[in-house]
Amino acid sequence: MDSVPTHVAASRSVERRVTGRATSDGAGVRLTRVLTQDLQRRLDPFLMLDAFGSDNPDDYIAGFPDHPHRGFETVTYMIAGRMRHRDSAGHEGLLDSGGVQWMTAGRGLVHSEIPEQESGVMEGFQLWVNLPARDKLCAPWYRDFSAAELAHVLAPGGVDITVIAGASHGVQGAVTRDATDVVYLDVNIPAGGGVLEQPLTPENNAFLYVYRGTVTVEGQEIDAGCMAVLATDPHCDGVRVQAHDAARFLLIAGKPLGEPITQYGPFVMNTQQEIYQAVADFRAGRLG
Ligand code: CO
Repeated sequence: MDSVPTHVAASRSVERRVTGRATSDGAGVRLTRVLTQDLQRRLDPFLMLDAFGSDNPDDYIAGFPDHPHRGFETVTYMIAGRMRHRDSAGHEGLLDSGGVQWMTAGRGLVHSEIPEQESGVMEGFQLWVNLPARDKLCAPWYRDFSAAELAHVLAPGGVDITVIAGASHGVQGAVTRDATDVVYLDVNIPAGGGVLEQPLTPENNAFLYVYRGTVTVEGQEIDAGCMAVLATDPHCDGVRVQAHDAARFLLIAGKPLGEPITQYGPFVMNTQQEIYQAVADFRAGRLG
């Protein structure tokens, strides 16, 4: 059996730091858009990352009433609080604290995502992952993973890793995607600090989003609320992330699709013609 690489010889560096932009979406949910449309090409296959978090229910309780999606996948990860979702195919689920919903919109559906408070607090993330052209009109699919169903790794130094997609330290996450080779880790560095070494495929795009504390990558500090785009360098076999005290961050990486990206709100296709078709199908009630 091959040994599992957990050591990184040459770490990627930080190409660019980006501070999330405060915005609102759905029925007035206040959120921070971390990965914005201007980074879609650079961070292909990732289209968007939103961070939402508030202890004031007025900021989020109206949620995201019925809206469509076509052409990509959404990954919703709740750190605290719950999210109730319903879709046009009659599915309903309640995503609990620490849980993940992975949804492949494919040819399209209409759904609602409504937060429910737990001790008043709601915090989580939604990542959009593009689909290759050949899969954009596939049948919709989703699955909810409870916190207990997600794989965890306790790495050296007490670094706790939730493996949502891809693999870390030989542990396979809940979801595998061949076309986009997604790695999605939630990394929790304990009080007193620690280091994560994560091998990454050199040609894949990768970024970090820090949401507690401060981390350092190749001498560059990244504070909570900040995203770091990691340089794509053929000489680097992964990334080394250090923290001198408690810190939490998402590490996300994926294989670029290299296809045209045309987005109109909740529709992400390859051509403008396909966008017109998506809008026409939605108006005609053909998305659900
Ligand atoms: Co949605």
